[in-house]
Amino acid sequence: MEARVLQIETAQSLDDAVEAAAALLRSGQIVAVPTETVYGLAANAFDPAAVRKIYEAKERPAENPIIVHVSSRPMVRSCVSEWPDLASTLARAFWPGALTLVLPKSDRIPSIVTAGGATVGVRWPAHPFMQALIRACDFPLAAPSANPANQISPTTAGHVYEAMKNKVPLIIDAGPSNVGIESTVLDISIEKPRILRPGMVSREQIEQVLGFTISDAEKSGGQLRSPGLLPRHYSPRAPLVVARWTGDDELLEIARQKKIPASRVHLLVHERIPQAATFARVCVIPEDPEAYARALYDELHRSDAEGAGLIIVEALPDGSAWEGLRDRLKRASAQHSS
Ligand code: TXA
Ligand code: MG
Repeated sequence: MEARVLQIETAQSLDDAVEAAAALLRSGQIVAVPTETVYGLAANAFDPAAVRKIYEAKERPAENPIIVHVSSRPMVRSCVSEWPDLASTLARAFWPGALTLVLPKSDRIPSIVTAGGATVGVRWPAHPFMQALIRACDFPLAAPSANPANQISPTTAGHVYEAMKNKVPLIIDAGPSNVGIESTVLDISIEKPRILRPGMVSREQIEQVLGFTISDAEKSGGQLRSPGLLPRHYSPRAPLVVARWTGDDELLEIARQKKIPASRVHLLVHERIPQAATFARVCVIPEDPEAYARALYDELHRSDAEGAGLIIVEALPDGSAWEGLRDRLKRASAQHSS
């Protein structure tokens, strides 16, 4: 099986793509779909056999629950058993968008979606294709990121095709993802809301809407409730280090310590642009969190495709707007340091 790729370029091709994807999903198949955060691998969330195909295609550990995507209020309510005022407040502020809310699951959500847990993550995506697809299906879509387990999430159909072409019948290509990293996951099934995975919907924005401060799983040091928090996650193949330097000498010293020649070192910088022409590739991403998020995964995929021996990323600024990005870089660098 080699995946068919359908491009969305016109209103007609959008309709055709929705129809083709919906037909497969109705018959219990999986489809790779664009969302505004990253590309997802979708199945009917109410159909355990269909959801099993997601785990198989990704080789995803059975203990990692899957986010359910909805596109109407009644559909959200059919997925959860409780809908507190807090959920309404957050949904009004951030949906459709890149925020996933973890709530007690309804009986209609099979346990394979939640990895046996009592809660479900729900998100109302902003992407017009996803909204049209969910409406056409009239059932919610379980969809993790469309990458093999532990690799970087795809932000283009090309990324999906490279890694998954033999695992899915259909890939919908709607161009690069607008947000570029995975949604913020916020657990509101517990008394004190907690960020399980930071993202581009920032802690500060959430706190502003809620009117009180929230803790995050790492800082509160509590029990690991979200496998997305495992340190080895979202990794490129090449070793990645996050570093600060003042001049080229220090930069070259980092490569020397890792025993990688500069000619195989890829750099991701936003402020200190090296002068030496000795590096394999220097990518300058603007020091703007939204632009950075949109570019990051594509640059990491590119470095892998070009056979980078080492990726050195300039450390990111402090502040809530960069928290999701700092988190992804920390995870991307964790794999090789342990
Ligand atoms: O932006 C996104 O969230 C993308 C797009 C496709 O929507 N999806 C995505 O899914 O990133 P995935 O499966 O790659 O990451 C989902 C994260 C995982 O860390 C998972 O552990 C957590 O959400 N999660 C899902 N359901 C949960 C639950 N019921 N309780 C705690 N964590 C949950
Ligand atoms: Mg993922």
